[in-house]
Amino acid sequence: MYLRRVDIRNFRCWERCRIDPASGLNLIIGENASGKTSLLEAIYFLGRARSFRQTPPNRLIRRGADAFNLNAEVVSEDRRPLRIGIERKPGNTRLRLDGREDVPLLDLVSALPVQVIDPNIHRLLEEGPRHRRRYLDWGVFHVEHGFFPAWRRYRRALRQRNGALRRGLPKTDVIVWDSELVHAAKDVDACRRSYLHALERVLPEMVGEILGEGEVVLDYHPGWPLDEDYGSALLHSLERDRRMGFTQHGPHRADLRVRVASMTARDWVSRGQQKVLTAALLLAQAALLDRRRGIRPVLLIDDLAAELGGTYRAAVMRAIGRLRGQCFLTFLDEALVPEGTGECAMFHVEHGRVRRGA
Ligand SMILES: Nc1ncnc2c1ncn2[C@@H]1O[C@H](COP(=O)(O)OP(=O)(O)OP(=O)(O)O)[C@@H](O)[C@H]1O
Ligand SMILES: [Mg+2]
Repeated sequence: MYLRRVDIRNFRCWERCRIDPASGLNLIIGENASGKTSLLEAIYFLGRARSFRQTPPNRLIRRGADAFNLNAEVVSEDRRPLRIGIERKPGNTRLRLDGREDVPLLDLVSALPVQVIDPNIHRLLEEGPRHRRRYLDWGVFHVEHGFFPAWRRYRRALRQRNGALRRGLPKTDVIVWDSELVHAAKDVDACRRSYLHALERVLPEMVGEILGEGEVVLDYHPGWPLDEDYGSALLHSLERDRRMGFTQHGPHRADLRVRVASMTARDWVSRGQQKVLTAALLLAQAALLDRRRGIRPVLLIDDLAAELGGTYRAAVMRAIGRLRGQCFLTFLDEALVPEGTGECAMFHVEHGRVRRGA
């Protein structure tokens, strides 16, 4: 899958940016603050309807404009072109797919699987479980088709149960949701486990290729104590749930800890190694999506040179090359592009303009 055309209007510093990217590597070269990350961010927004920089959507609208518009033509693996569009006005996002207005987010996310590697990716290892759940569930969503309906059922039941807890309703009004919660949680958990089982087979190859050493272990925690089934965990925490006013156990609290050999990755590896390890985790997902569904996601690689020496940079580039999907990479300077980078399209960005280079 690849983007054949991207048209950005009033997004961050871009008043207008229109590019016809190559289906393989696309290098975006420009000075600080020229709009490189914003360009990747716009593409990411097209596939996820949110930013990867934790900026609220309204702040992405160019200062002085009242809305941003993103449009793109996606060519799917079966060569079918698809037009996707997003308009964001303050407080309101509208999604368009092939002329159909106000399509659900799910359709957009399915149409454009997009993954990002930016200078902050090590947060995946360092920060709370939310980032790792998001990492895990992106892959599960695209590979395991039973996941989304189960997740939706789970969220619905959880919302109801939490509502009852918050309002201090009697026990019976709380536990009435438990059976639906347990059923849905079982399916969510099964999809996650099945996905991880497949990921564990792809990961060593990617880690070996990029990091070159260390056995990476994924420790999955379903979101409730490992020595209990979910139904009993809910029962045991009922009194605490009522005191706290929300449900403490369940797939919404799952985590995926990453260990290198017998230590946690956070303790073992340097910042640079954390980055390449995270890059390996993300690229392994891309490889798995291709193997299982024949879909090559669009990869966005922001500032690969930040904190990464030449050896790691070259290793990441080789891995990206082998995935053979569409990839957008930003660099401050052409000189930072790893040697041996094959055929690619080059875009120079400066002062709100983009120019295709040689
Ligand atoms: N809503 C907005 N409206 C107008 N300009 C914005 C908005 N949000 C961010 N900017 C500006 O966009 C410019 C480009 O930012 P961006 O992060 O894309 O640059 P970059 O090329 O990635 O820089 P670096 O090399 O430092 O990472 C910045 O000067 C920033 O202040
Ligand atoms: Mg940047």
